[in-house]
Amino acid sequence: MLTENEREELEKELGRHELKSSASVEALKIVQRYRGWISDESLRDTAVLLEMTPEELDSVATFYSMIFRRRVGRHVILVCTTISCWVVGYEGLLNYLHARLGIKPGETTADDRFTLLPIPCLGACDGAPAIMVDETLYTNVTEKSISEIIEKYE
Ligand code: FES
Repeated sequence: MLTENEREELEKELGRHELKSSASVEALKIVQRYRGWISDESLRDTAVLLEMTPEELDSVATFYSMIFRRRVGRHVILVCTTISCWVVGYEGLLNYLHARLGIKPGETTADDRFTLLPIPCLGACDGAPAIMVDETLYTNVTEKSISEIIEKYE
């Protein structure tokens, strides 16, 4: 069940669009901001507001890699695995994060602090290797800088 705040924000967003379904990505982002991820129940409730079927909205949600259809930790670390980041060794960074956090890509730490996810290009190729933690982009990262970055997130 969507909360009053969620509904209010969603209605405001829907008011900006002639066709409710064209607000689908923004609507999913709003719900995800409140809940951290999009459960089946949230998806169904949001689809009703958007006048879409849950299946239609799910196809939007699963298309966008920044919309999470599974429970994630309090913070999500996205590691770019596309060509520019591959060339400069994203694999070493993933291995470092695996060793440091004790989780493999796709997993969440036992304390729910971090989820680690590989992701296609973050659009910061000139700053490869790039990672994103929640909504903050970090470029030219190294093991040392990643170590400092993750300390900022409780
Ligand atoms: S390839 Fe990594 S940010 Fe574009």
